[in-house]
Amino acid sequence: MFDILLPESDDKPIYLHLYSQIRARIRDGTIPDGARLPSVRALRQQLNISKTPVETAFQMLTAEGYAVSRPRSGLYAANPLPLSDQSPDQSTHSERRQASASTDSAPASDRMIDFDPTKLDANAFPVRTWQKLLRDAVSDRAGEMGSYGDPRGEPGLRRAIAEYLGSSRGVRCDADRIVVGSGMAYSVGIAAKLLAGRSRVAMEAPGYNLVRDQLTLNGCAPLPIPVGDHGLDLDALEASDAEAVYVTPSHQFPTGSVMPYPARERLLRWAEARDAYVIEDDYDGEFRYVGKPIPSLQGLDAHGRVVYVGTFSKAFSPAVRLNYMVLPLELTERLSRLPREVLHAPSRVEQWAMQSFIEQGHWYRHIRRMRSLYRKRHGLLIELIRTHLGSRALITG
Ligand SMILES: Cc1ncc(COP(=O)(O)O)c(C=O)c1O
Repeated sequence: MFDILLPESDDKPIYLHLYSQIRARIRDGTIPDGARLPSVRALRQQLNISKTPVETAFQMLTAEGYAVSRPRSGLYAANPLPLSDQSPDQSTHSERRQASASTDSAPASDRMIDFDPTKLDANAFPVRTWQKLLRDAVSDRAGEMGSYGDPRGEPGLRRAIAEYLGSSRGVRCDADRIVVGSGMAYSVGIAAKLLAGRSRVAMEAPGYNLVRDQLTLNGCAPLPIPVGDHGLDLDALEASDAEAVYVTPSHQFPTGSVMPYPARERLLRWAEARDAYVIEDDYDGEFRYVGKPIPSLQGLDAHGRVVYVGTFSKAFSPAVRLNYMVLPLELTERLSRLPREVLHAPSRVEQWAMQSFIEQGHWYRHIRRMRSLYRKRHGLLIELIRTHLGSRALITG
């Protein structure tokens, strides 16, 4: 039984009681460094409360370095200052660094907050469901294991993606216009071949360097265009001699700015007037924590100027290597004239499993779960920045 007391009634939220009591016990050693903390379920049953305050308290402890999560094992106490009981507010930064350097028992990597934007929370991956769907894919399709699949991707998966994109991202397409691939590098390579000589490709600066490098490798010349509070600077784009542009309009990478509706219209007008193409990277369109989801630029495009690219790397897993590209009709026709060797679809087994994952409703449930998990962390991060950095930090994007 974990020693926590919740007062009968007061104004302080339950999660704060949990957080401060557990933190105090870790700091004074009552909960020893490295001890396993109870599971969310055990603690909520013991205290007869819902799981949300327990999860929030555990997230705060983890974010502040008082607890460390070990995948598939649980949460462990980690006292950031085991020997000196000083509050972080009373010590200088260098004192704290020295204290932790000389007294840490856990590896430094356990005490870090990892801000790598390409990584997902591995604990949130639906291991059992995915294992089952992979097994089912092999047994249900055993008769197809002897042959190559469609180089544009399995038709069933393309249909499932088209339906998802139509209902959730406002993308207008059918399965015939989708090319399933193994990631952005692959999609950019194909898009570059379809641009038919449009080699000057504008790019957000700062932007996604992988795309810049892939464009160069594929014979295009990337043109850096500045980014402002509303995404790509359209004045600069219009003043350039770009023939195509790569953008992340729903959540600019890396600044996080969002391109407003009038700017989207203006970008599409530019593309139409210049006979240019827009490559829309909707890499994390699933994640929007406040307000309504922003529909895709592709859905606004009435003239077939947008190549839309999305991925399973952000909400599902970057390890599976599955993404998709939606082509305008004209480029779909051009694709059919490219040599077949240009296209290499990913593993059929993973594609079949993903098709079932979407068709059986797991994908929609999974996105809701991930959105809720990341929304809480996003809120917590903002709260901690405000609490600890106050007016010294400006939060944007
Ligand atoms: C801006 C941007 N686009 C796309 C992706 C996804 O790429 P992929 O589908 O190759 O995993 C990422 C991944 O980090 C990204 O940061």
